[in-house]
Amino acid sequence: MTELVHVGLEGREYDIHIGPGLLARAGDLISTLTNRRRMMIVTEENVAALHLKALQDGLAAAGIQSEALILPAGEATKSWPHFTRAVEWLLEQKVERKDLVIAFGGGVIGDLTGFAAAVLRRGVGFVQIPTSLLAQVDSSVGGKTGINAPQGKNLIGAFHQPSMVLADTDVLGTLTSRDFLAGYGEVVKYGLLGDEAFFDWLEQNAPAMAAGDQTLRVEAVKRSCQMKADIVERDETEQGDRALLNLGHTFCHALEAATGYSDRLLHGEGVAIGCALAFELSSRLGLCSQEAPSRVRAHLKAMGTKVDLSDIEGNLPSAEALVDLMGQDKKVVDGQLRFIMARGIGQAYVTGDVPRDAVVALLQDALAQR
Ligand code: GLY
Repeated sequence: MTELVHVGLEGREYDIHIGPGLLARAGDLISTLTNRRRMMIVTEENVAALHLKALQDGLAAAGIQSEALILPAGEATKSWPHFTRAVEWLLEQKVERKDLVIAFGGGVIGDLTGFAAAVLRRGVGFVQIPTSLLAQVDSSVGGKTGINAPQGKNLIGAFHQPSMVLADTDVLGTLTSRDFLAGYGEVVKYGLLGDEAFFDWLEQNAPAMAAGDQTLRVEAVKRSCQMKADIVERDETEQGDRALLNLGHTFCHALEAATGYSDRLLHGEGVAIGCALAFELSSRLGLCSQEAPSRVRAHLKAMGTKVDLSDIEGNLPSAEALVDLMGQDKKVVDGQLRFIMARGIGQAYVTGDVPRDAVVALLQDALAQR
């Protein structure tokens, strides 16, 4: 039951394979791109403990020998020291332009390894093998690569498309329920930003999907990747529509900075909270009905993901301080914040026309409920 989504970027096109059992077939699938019989894998310790042997066996079955660099797990790895380590290790391994480096992990490993591939020898190829739901539906697709800076998230990076994405849905079975639900924040984002029918489908099917239904998982990942591929084909470098994929992310990035990029708030949890806030703000500004934010919150609550600021443990800064943290957002133009607002479920758009006072008031009310 493997599904295929094609990303049709001229000269940089690639396939996303989605389904169970793909680690075992990785060697055969990657062999369609290259005849190199040696590959370098960058991964992290949790993924390595659970799945590295299965991937290396899958490569070996096609006669591909592999070496792996195992980095620490967690967001702190997406930083200069670990990036330097990965780049230098790949150079020690004598990576060549025609090699395909394998990024094997969640968003942190995919972003860091993709960025290393982008800059090494002015660009080597890479394959994304995403192991988290978040990475399978979002970060492994579309070629955004990079690391975090002390000033903010993802501020150092490059666009560099992978040559193939292998989303093995069996691997999702080893995620903790918290990690799975965090990734779900990015799945629901697709319905909310541009496809009400997908949101309807999620309302019906997401509980069974979260409980482990494989067919539903494949379908949810496929529909998410198809939407992302369509947007990336229209706007690879985010001159317009691609910013829609940042629904909820302006709030999320401020909350992640406020919680120190720690376990207090996982990225996808911040996306879910951010989507709820974006719909609440849209309703307050009279852009959408009051029912829309209620429906969003009801679904997120039913799924058991974080949805309110009160779901974040510990102290948070003031509403003014949170808005200041948004100032490093990559969507800022001429110092002006831009938000993804919604005219309804599935009808998001980008605007610079959101009064700062309205954002501060929204956050003050959300903080008061803690
Ligand atoms: N994660 C948002 C994007 O790829 O544009």
